[in-house]
Amino acid sequence: METQIRKVGVLTSGGDAPGMNAAVRAVVRACIFYDMEVYGIYKGYDGLINDHIEQLNVRSVSNILSRGGTFLLSARSDEFRTEEGRKKAYKNFRKKGLDALVVIGGDGSFTGADIFSREFDMPVIGIPGTIDNDLAGTDLTIGFDTACNTAREAIDKIRDTASSHERLFFVEVMGRDAGFIAVNSAIGGGAVAMIVPEHNWTLESLVKRLRKGAANQKASNVVIIAEGCHLGSAYDIAEQVKQELDYYDIRVSVLGHMQRGGSPTTIDRVLASRLGVAAIEGLINGESKCMVGMINNKIVYTPIGEAIKTEKPLDEEEFRIAKILSI
Ligand code: F6P
Repeated sequence: METQIRKVGVLTSGGDAPGMNAAVRAVVRACIFYDMEVYGIYKGYDGLINDHIEQLNVRSVSNILSRGGTFLLSARSDEFRTEEGRKKAYKNFRKKGLDALVVIGGDGSFTGADIFSREFDMPVIGIPGTIDNDLAGTDLTIGFDTACNTAREAIDKIRDTASSHERLFFVEVMGRDAGFIAVNSAIGGGAVAMIVPEHNWTLESLVKRLRKGAANQKASNVVIIAEGCHLGSAYDIAEQVKQELDYYDIRVSVLGHMQRGGSPTTIDRVLASRLGVAAIEGLINGESKCMVGMINNKIVYTPIGEAIKTEKPLDEEEFRIAKILSI
């Protein structure tokens, strides 16, 4: 079914992710390519509530493909969580004559998009932009690859100093309640172990693995801790391990928000470009209340509620590989 959409609003919301700019650029250029007007909504849903909305043209998005962050700014809007806030947002949406909304963000932003699109029965399409990779309906989210590369580069550097001093490092990475960044950067960075929220690894099993490494004369030891893991923070875990293995000289490094910045990798730029165009083509073809993603290199539209509610499992094969390689 084809719907007549003439004016599209686009916003970025939640934690920023490298490649969000590339996605906005793709949305803007695809709209103009298909003779539609496109409006940038600044600071996420707050921009919709406060009427901070400006028309964009083909040149508004020049030279942003390679830049991290989001030129549209981002926020986690408390006001949009309220019915009152969403009414204000819808009023401005109508006032500007917008026909559809493109939301680039993660699960929190999509929860808002889901409620908003059902409350006012309007076309909304989500583009997955989060370093956490915790959305079903897409193999990768925009920003995840860059974040893994940033974390892995940091781990490489930590390993240099860890080996020089024969130290054991606990490196904490982001990901909220998901272990995707942890698993990928741990395998890419050659970590001896990783602790993620999805697995019930105990302190005993970690200590056992470290003892084995010591017995095998492992030159350097880096353990990756996902920030949302059940055993506590990297500092908590380091403290507990110290009680068991007092011969280790232990240090902790929390990578934090550096993982959210930087120029997007080619993988993220291409993903963002493809999803941005697919979002607009989806809207033209009547797709709504869904998230556009990429599965096995194919564009897929998933109902937005499903994308946020379906659990996205870690790949068990990666744990098997990591175990083999960490001896
Ligand atoms: O969702 C992206 C993310 O970077 C998470 O990995 C992290 O838990 C959270 O956002 C941090 O949020 P804030 O920038 O609000 O501290």
